[in-house]
Amino acid sequence: MKAKTAFREVVRELEAQGALATVSRQVDPKHELTAVMRQMQKGENKALLFRSVAGSDQQVVTNVFGFRSHVAAALGLEEADLLPSLVQLENQRLPTERVDQAPVQEVVVAGADVDVSRDVPQVVFSELDAGAYLTAGVLIAPHPETGVYNASWNRCQLVGGDRMRVRMMPPQHLGRYHQVAEEKGQNLPCAIVVGAPPGVMFSAASKVPFEVDELEVAGAWQGSPLRVTRCKTIPVDVPADAEMVIEGEVIAGVREDEGPFGEFTDGYVPVMKNHVFRVTAITRRRDAIYHAILAGGTEDLNLVGVPIQTEIYKKVSSFVPRIRDIATPGYVFGCVISIEKKSEDQSKNAVLAALAAYSWTKVVVVVDEDVDPFNAADVLWAIQTRATPDTGVYVFPRVPSYTREDVREVHRGKIGIDATVPLHMKKLFERRRFPGESDVRLEEYIDGGC
Ligand SMILES: Cc1cc2nc3c(=O)[nH]c(=O)nc-3n(C[C@H](O)[C@H](O)[C@H](O)COP(=O)(O)O)c2cc1C
Repeated sequence: MKAKTAFREVVRELEAQGALATVSRQVDPKHELTAVMRQMQKGENKALLFRSVAGSDQQVVTNVFGFRSHVAAALGLEEADLLPSLVQLENQRLPTERVDQAPVQEVVVAGADVDVSRDVPQVVFSELDAGAYLTAGVLIAPHPETGVYNASWNRCQLVGGDRMRVRMMPPQHLGRYHQVAEEKGQNLPCAIVVGAPPGVMFSAASKVPFEVDELEVAGAWQGSPLRVTRCKTIPVDVPADAEMVIEGEVIAGVREDEGPFGEFTDGYVPVMKNHVFRVTAITRRRDAIYHAILAGGTEDLNLVGVPIQTEIYKKVSSFVPRIRDIATPGYVFGCVISIEKKSEDQSKNAVLAALAAYSWTKVVVVVDEDVDPFNAADVLWAIQTRATPDTGVYVFPRVPSYTREDVREVHRGKIGIDATVPLHMKKLFERRRFPGESDVRLEEYIDGGC
């Protein structure tokens, strides 16, 4: 399997597999588009392409990474080996390749002509959101001193005219880049890339070390140099094959009220003083496909979850040689690790290593290899039938996890549950099997079919 090098290739592939549903009737980008997406996520969870969105000539796609297998396929990897494959790729780099003719610059709107409330689809997600938000933008900037490129996902409020507001606080790397520029009294040139190649999306979501160039990491992940082109109005290179680029700068010394916004924990972040982005140009493909991601939806939780699973895999695999897989079912502040336990120490070390691997992780459950870590009901079954609360529950008081300032006091303390069977009792806990179960076709048995 080859990694996709353009976002539209991912969309095309989903369509070829029947994993993309299309909507031709016009939808209102305010609430209606999200309402349809929510229904889809609760059901078949297919990718959705809205062909006609009021107020815009662009198609809008969403739920592209609704399944973890779609993330793996976009990166050209097998889902069964996703985490070890990602760990293996992590230290590789490929220099970018600069091109002059870039699909992403087929249409250019610059200077006073720019209006983000006209040139970008105005998707309003949750009831109390402050207005339209761009949620699937990868922000790309070179470090003001070293030139090393950072890429990260940041929500952006579309204010109007040339103005946007961005949440990008240090220690997030982009916030640190801006801090360096701001201390010199300079704005930070920055590009917001919508529909970036999957390698860029994934390096942006991952914990790539500060000093490492994330565009080179993206090249390694896609297995070929990332094609970049120079922006029209700022000294920044962007993926040439992206769908849309919003060029501009993050202003020094200015903060404005941003929010409220219904974010990934399913609540609202209140109004906060956040950074201000001044747009200098918008470039895009003639037939650009705009990407919208619902914060906390299935797509978002896969994009956030896979890098967390990878970090945990890295740490746990140094204690446990055979890990079946690691999942973040339900939400990304917890994980389930399915292992082939060979000594009693392994499950305990797995709990500790996982809790330390990623700061947000506050609940860890370790299960045997016969439990499906992606199936929350199966995991609850294992806790109820196999865990020994007297000796198998570990509480680490006061350790911080999720760092959002205003809810910090709730995210204190971590808990680990060893729900594996004691090795000497393995036979007693062997799961039943039902001969012939997987071969049965119900419609051949039920009167009138089913
Ligand atoms: C779809 C999506 C949206 C995100 N939005 C934000 C955001 O608005 N603010 C933020 O700080 N992190 C956000 N994140 C998480 C960061 O992109 C992620 O933590 C990344 O590793 C930070 O980049 P850095 O390692 O360069 O600091 C988002 C992640 C995804 C996948």
